[in-house]
Amino acid sequence: MLNKKVEKILNEQVEKEGYSSSLYLAMASWAEVNGLAGIAGWLYAQSDEERMHMLKIIKFINERGGKAVVPAFKQPGKEFTAVRKMFEEVLKHEQYISASINEIVAVCMAEKDYTTHNWIQWFVTEQIEEEANATAILDKLNLLGDKNLYVFDRDILSLRAKD
Ligand code: FEO
Repeated sequence: MLNKKVEKILNEQVEKEGYSSSLYLAMASWAEVNGLAGIAGWLYAQSDEERMHMLKIIKFINERGGKAVVPAFKQPGKEFTAVRKMFEEVLKHEQYISASINEIVAVCMAEKDYTTHNWIQWFVTEQIEEEANATAILDKLNLLGDKNLYVFDRDILSLRAKD
């Protein structure tokens, strides 16, 4: 049976991953209507990935004898004023998610739940990549400057070729 404190924090993470999916979906939609098809494609794929993270946690909770709860997700913003600012928000959000994954690791240790501790390592590794992807995008944006968004929009999808 899944430890109750671990179950609780995993359900909180379900909400965070689901919100991440909605947030990137909102960003994708904004980029799409602003003529940035490449950026929209990257964000749509990222939104799908976040949904996959959420599902992974839901299935784990249920598989371990807990009960996953699908929560209400708060509404993300609708307007994103500038591409660079939006990706700064992506990086900040991923840093926040990394911190919450680390918190799950800490609870697993405190509760001596070594099974979940072992399982959550996938997310620990995933967060290294998530932060690195956002940082790589910001580095490119800094190199190109806001005036070269056309080039950036054309090239961004190649930045996630490894996924
Ligand atoms: Fe599921 Fe981007 O963290």
